[in-house]
Amino acid sequence: MRVVVLENADSVAQFAADFFVQQVKRKPNSVLGLATGSTPLGTYRKLIEAYQAGRVSFKDVTTFNLDEYYGLEPTHEQSYRRFMRESLFDHIDVEPSRTHVPLGTANNVEAETEAYEAAIVAAGGIDVQLLGIGTDGHIAFNEPGSSFASRTRLKTLTRRTRQDNARFFGSLDLVPKLALTMGIGSILEARQLLLLACGEGKAEAIAKSVEGPVSAICPGSALQLHRRAIVVLDKGAAKGLSQLEYYADCEMNLNELTKV
Ligand code: F6R
Repeated sequence: MRVVVLENADSVAQFAADFFVQQVKRKPNSVLGLATGSTPLGTYRKLIEAYQAGRVSFKDVTTFNLDEYYGLEPTHEQSYRRFMRESLFDHIDVEPSRTHVPLGTANNVEAETEAYEAAIVAAGGIDVQLLGIGTDGHIAFNEPGSSFASRTRLKTLTRRTRQDNARFFGSLDLVPKLALTMGIGSILEARQLLLLACGEGKAEAIAKSVEGPVSAICPGSALQLHRRAIVVLDKGAAKGLSQLEYYADCEMNLNELTKV
């Protein structure tokens, strides 16, 4: 696992945006796995800027989002489909029919989640999957205890996750209790994982994910099983790590090597 510790949230967003721009330049028809929540917002703003400045085009890109609240219409103010439209899709040249978010109002959840997995396979698999992390260690909405073999499915949200997300809904009662989410097994199949975390509130989840035992009780620790995972942190989120000096040495050497 590559651990990159940067000065602040803006540098984390810049790193992720540059990473995506490079990916799309190298492979214009890339399949990008996207996330919602507060963490990726800065990255999306920088991707919009890059598009507006003519530095990148998303016209041949396909996207798959990690999750959607169960029961929310795609137009609902707090649905992840709407979040993605407002935060990114409406501002770039991605083809709307190639953007995928699980349908939270599907009548047949099993058929919807199976079709979602099949669509990822049909698109050729995800090239780069962007991830955030919950304070309870969840990735996508795979809450503690989720199997590392799990696939896209309906999942119960923990009270902690619902409390964390109540800030968007105005009240805890309005936060859905369930979500459709890609599984940890589905996420681990992406060719590259890019997990972002900012702020001290994420420090414990990051320390457990990066340096703790690999365990279903901390879904983020599944990243230790992936051969190409990069964890990009600001100083606050990195606070609980014991090997900071080593991670910095690795980055320094990598920078030296790429200069050659
Ligand atoms: C959202 C998602 C979640 C969030 C996590 C952190 O698509 O998959 O795992 O990444 O809940 O959310 P923020 O960034 O709001 O702290």
